[in-house]
Amino acid sequence: MDNTRPIGFFDSGVGGISVLKRSVEILPMENYIYYGDSKNAPYGTKDVETIKRLTSEGIDLLVARGCKAVVVACNTATSAAIDYIRDRYSTIPVIGIEPALKPAVESTEDGKILVLATPRTLTERKFHALMESVARTREIIRMPLPGLVEIIEKGDFDEEKSFEYLQEALADVDKNVRAVVLGCTHYPFVKQSILKILGDEVSVYDGSDGTARRLARILADRELLNPGPGNGSIEIINSLGTPEILELSRYLLAKDN
Ligand code: SIN
Repeated sequence: MDNTRPIGFFDSGVGGISVLKRSVEILPMENYIYYGDSKNAPYGTKDVETIKRLTSEGIDLLVARGCKAVVVACNTATSAAIDYIRDRYSTIPVIGIEPALKPAVESTEDGKILVLATPRTLTERKFHALMESVARTREIIRMPLPGLVEIIEKGDFDEEKSFEYLQEALADVDKNVRAVVLGCTHYPFVKQSILKILGDEVSVYDGSDGTARRLARILADRELLNPGPGNGSIEIINSLGTPEILELSRYLLAKDN
């Protein structure tokens, strides 16, 4: 088995770069191919069958490129399509992402937990099962943010538009919120705006660290780790195919959240 084969990352657009970044920090010697489906973003307001079809088309492309494992770095695609994708690709590890509700519950003793995600993620069975298993005793406020992914896809993550959007959406948030879970991989890119609005005393959690660690564990267990030497490569592909989207992707890869 050739362990220098790349790890494939899939997302509805540029959001999954927040997960890729953490994976590169933990596994720098690996080669990566990131495929963003910005042409079809957002997924969060689409029906389940459409999300399954688009996600499997993206994964097909990564598998055809010889990936040894794939990460579905999109909360919406994971919620709606991960079981379907795992059935289709039973020969390679398929790693999904879930909202970091467990770390948020474990790290805060009291107060409410605000979960920000797409409408699809919050209504899917997977999220309800996660709440049942880790957050029975805590009050969870679920807030869908339709439209935010589109703003981030345009590259307006810190600037006026995303800040104004968030200020309006978060205006009436309960004062007892102690933790915020970013349940969409696009949202870490607007984390500073969220903190500015809700105040520095709230803790913010996202699923990138947990996903990157799970990827590392699975590769180690299956003896698939790339031993190096040296750092691997990162190739970015996007269904939109414009120079602007590739420039935005590279900018986000280098940006501090
Ligand atoms: C979307 O495409 O609407 C968001 C992707 C995500 O949930 O991470």
